[in-house]
Amino acid sequence: MKIAIDGPAGAGKSTIARKIASELDFVYIDTGAMYRALTWEALNKGINTNDAAALQKLALSSDIHFENGQQIYCNNINVTSDIRLPRITEAVSGVASHPAVREIMVEKQQDMALTADIVMDGRDIGECVLPDAEYKFFITASIEERARRRMKELQAKGIACDLQEIKNDIAARDQSDMQRPTGALKILDDSIIIDTSNLSIDEVAARLYAIIREG
Ligand code: DC
Repeated sequence: MKIAIDGPAGAGKSTIARKIASELDFVYIDTGAMYRALTWEALNKGINTNDAAALQKLALSSDIHFENGQQIYCNNINVTSDIRLPRITEAVSGVASHPAVREIMVEKQQDMALTADIVMDGRDIGECVLPDAEYKFFITASIEERARRRMKELQAKGIACDLQEIKNDIAARDQSDMQRPTGALKILDDSIIIDTSNLSIDEVAARLYAIIREG
């Protein structure tokens, strides 16, 4: 079985996807982490994030894979923590905007989906990676709520931040994810939309789980 989970940054997708995968005993694949790993390698090699041809070559030649669940490796280096650094977050949507890069990443993701029952999250999973997924969820939340959640996370790490700045940043990321020429984030005809603004993670997971169990 294949379960696709798409939605904007900060809606709680990956927490929910991980929880559902563990409840169902499915493999969880975080495709955002794969774009982040490629971005890490590009920055490491000094490749400009506007250079589509160099990034395409890099995506083709790089081995990006998961081990022990959520540990992600790029060319045999464990990049699990590094890919969450602000410099990666700032550069990744530029890397993910190139159609030539997306084509290669989608192929890698489709290959991973061949071997097991999976829950995969990202932006273009239902449309491009797993168009035949049994369930396509679109997990979203208001910009205000997503910004509040992000602010809490940063504060918990002791990082000073401004709510309005975070909101602007989220709005800009939404725009770039929704407006790129290929693999844009969008609600599909067969998407099941879940707004998490007023729900806890457990409530959202319970809702998805009930939908999947009811078949
Ligand atoms: O979900 P995330 O924030 O870790 O994703 C990182 C970036 O990768 C974000 O800019 C959106 C992009 N992305 C994408 O374009 N397609 C996907 N399937 C997953 C993520």
